Amino acid sequence: MDDSSLFDANQKVYDMVFKSTVDFFCLKGALDLNLFEALASEPLSIEDLAKATKSVPLRLNKFLMSLDQIGLVEQKDGKWGLTPFSVQFFTAPEQHRNLTFVPFMDYLGKMIEPYYLRMADVVRGERNFTSFTPYPPRTREDSDFYETLHRSNTFYPTKLLVERGNLKGVKHLVDMGGGIGDIAIALCRANPDLTVTLINLPSAIDLVKENVADKGFSDRITPVAIDMYREPLPKCDAVLISRILYPFGEQFSRMLCQKAYDTLEPDGRLLLLDMNISDDHSPNYDYLTHYLSSVGTDFVQMEFKHHNTYSKIMGEIGFKDIKFDDAWDNILFQAVK
Ligand SMILES: C[S@@+](CC[C@H](N)C(=O)[O-])C[C@H]1O[C@@H](n2cnc3c(N)ncnc32)[C@H](O)[C@@H]1O
Repeated sequence: MDDSSLFDANQKVYDMVFKSTVDFFCLKGALDLNLFEALASEPLSIEDLAKATKSVPLRLNKFLMSLDQIGLVEQKDGKWGLTPFSVQFFTAPEQHRNLTFVPFMDYLGKMIEPYYLRMADVVRGERNFTSFTPYPPRTREDSDFYETLHRSNTFYPTKLLVERGNLKGVKHLVDMGGGIGDIAIALCRANPDLTVTLINLPSAIDLVKENVADKGFSDRITPVAIDMYREPLPKCDAVLISRILYPFGEQFSRMLCQKAYDTLEPDGRLLLLDMNISDDHSPNYDYLTHYLSSVGTDFVQMEFKHHNTYSKIMGEIGFKDIKFDDAWDNILFQAVK
């Protein structure tokens, strides 16, 4: 390596070792102290914040100085407050439903001690991955847990679908594995003639119904309990497969795209959205946290496939006019039957 490449490599190892340790454990400490909640409504003096977080003021002050360095808090007029970054991602998840990290941090924070810290034991087969909430979900509570995670980062996938998805003339869309309905709601808002059949597991249906009713879309979005992998789908003129296929290999992806093809009317449209997991320059760490959890199970098979596979599959099935878009770390394929 010449000095310039060595410097780039040094930056990378610095991020891996120093930055990742500081970032994650500062966040975890702040959450465990309920610091974001304590500062959510107003900045506090060190004494008041120490009381609210049951901390030793001198230690808390040094901890806050570290949080300040990494952009989580700021000091103003002798008080500590949250930065806009922290407010967006770590407070009031119900106000930032589609772009918040509260559920992810909560989940990963709980998995650190029993799982991620013990990765060598996992690889040696001495420890398994066991989720606190069963997957696939069986009860309303299980689905609530997973749907809360899924909806926490749908802002950019939704933006990509709304701004670049072609639903012109489409009357009936089938949303396969449609989550809690936030994406379907956004698509209905953007396309006044659209109706949606949202396919999900039985445990999620009431959650979807309530969400859709809450936003006033019960007459246009119908949640239906169908096992999308095993049961037939309703006929329609568009199918959305959003963030379903990324962990699956070519064979399984082909099976689901074929299912979409079979259920579409002639000239019907397929919209396939995924997070981008095949950017050579930037590994997808969201996917990698899931992938690492699969290391600890002998039956879950996740894959890394290039997204070009989708255009190949669609072409082989018989889809025409295959188009590709790539924005905000998400990819969107669109094709016509
Ligand atoms: C990763 S989430 C994607 C949600 C949404 N499409 C999005 O992009 O945010 C997967 C969704 O598929 C649903 N699901 C999982 N297995 C299913 C099955 N066999 N049949 C129907 N839905 C299923 C889950 O409950 C969840 O809503």
